[in-house]
Amino acid sequence: MVDRWYNIAADLPAVLAPPKDPDEGESRIGLLTRILPSALIDQEFSAERWISIPEEVRDAYRRVGRPTPLLRAEGLERALGTGVRIYYKYEGVLPVGSHKLNTALAQAYYAKADGAVEVATETGAGQWGMAVSLAAALFGLRAVVFMTRSSYNSKRQRLTFMRTYGATVYPSPSEVTEAGRRHYRPDHPGSLGIAISEAVEYVLSGEKRRYLPGSVLEFVLMHQTVIGLEAVRQLPEEPDAAVACVGGGSNFAGFTYPMIGMKLRGEGFDKTRFVAVEAEAAPKLTKGEYKYDFPDAVGVLPMIKMYTLGHDYVPPPVHAAGLRYHGAAPSLSLLRKLGIVEPLSYPQEEVMKAAVLFARTEGIVPAPESAHAIRAVLDLAKKLPRGSVIAFNLSGHGLLDSDAYEKFL
Ligand SMILES: Cc1ncc(COP(=O)(O)O)c(C=O)c1O
Repeated sequence: MVDRWYNIAADLPAVLAPPKDPDEGESRIGLLTRILPSALIDQEFSAERWISIPEEVRDAYRRVGRPTPLLRAEGLERALGTGVRIYYKYEGVLPVGSHKLNTALAQAYYAKADGAVEVATETGAGQWGMAVSLAAALFGLRAVVFMTRSSYNSKRQRLTFMRTYGATVYPSPSEVTEAGRRHYRPDHPGSLGIAISEAVEYVLSGEKRRYLPGSVLEFVLMHQTVIGLEAVRQLPEEPDAAVACVGGGSNFAGFTYPMIGMKLRGEGFDKTRFVAVEAEAAPKLTKGEYKYDFPDAVGVLPMIKMYTLGHDYVPPPVHAAGLRYHGAAPSLSLLRKLGIVEPLSYPQEEVMKAAVLFARTEGIVPAPESAHAIRAVLDLAKKLPRGSVIAFNLSGHGLLDSDAYEKFL
């Protein structure tokens, strides 16, 4: 069990551009300090390489099944017949089925430490909402989740499990907040942007409430490094390529940053390529522009410097709802700019084919998001010489994504 998170800000070869306020309007950074647990503001701006994981959070990690396993994909290797060895870290064993719980537990702990009694957030397909609901339950907090109305109507299983954990879930736009009422129509599909505005307004309009963000902010990426720190200890050999999918970047960072840090410090992983895989529907790292932009669609949060498709870009609906995000976290964007991280993107059909091959050879039905990494692994296995090693992060299982598999099959 690791006892500290890794902060890549300490090892980046160039200065990480800080969040900033837009030229007009009220201070978004000021707002952030009012809605987030205070320790997380410190972590967001920290330059310390290592941040101690509080004992209560380590206990919670243990209770939900950390350390997670590192497995060898022997079935997939045989099916490919390329002579390449493939390892994967499996985050789907966590009770909510994805890596999102790693930061939800930490954030709920810090909210509680601030004296909060309630946490609020937004969710699309429901992975983040489930993680926050369980984390809140484990730390004795109430959870309020604003779920985009289209998902609320179609992703009934995740909605039911959020409520099973004790959360109150509103379809967004809701009639609970001013932001929701402005857009409210019973048939409005909702958007993550509106849902974020609702969650933020909800937190500001009551006492002892905190807002918990699911990705993109640097402290979220840092909490996810438990994945990579465990993997570094578990891997029997250093990979030629380390691969993970990218929504906002926390999954990719969690798996690869501890390795990238060692490479930057000259302590190992010198031959490893780091491959970030995005959905063709949201190709910010391969086709976006590197500039300051809002991390949310409405512009309530501070601007961050990142590869972005524009905060008003609405990715077409794809099965991998967790990858439908317009930007990539500042540190990941900088690493891509510096050429330390290589981006790839794949269309949905190819990704789902890879997902099915993985299910049939390894037994685990992958989340459509995670299957993007598998798709890239298939390409790399063909291109790399025999005897090469690939490691990837399987960020979640797809057992609550049967609609995606049904449509594909
Ligand atoms: C299973 C799974 N993998 C990956 C992601 C990508 O998110 P991020 O890059 O923000 O970690 C998500 C987001 O919801 C997810 O649910």
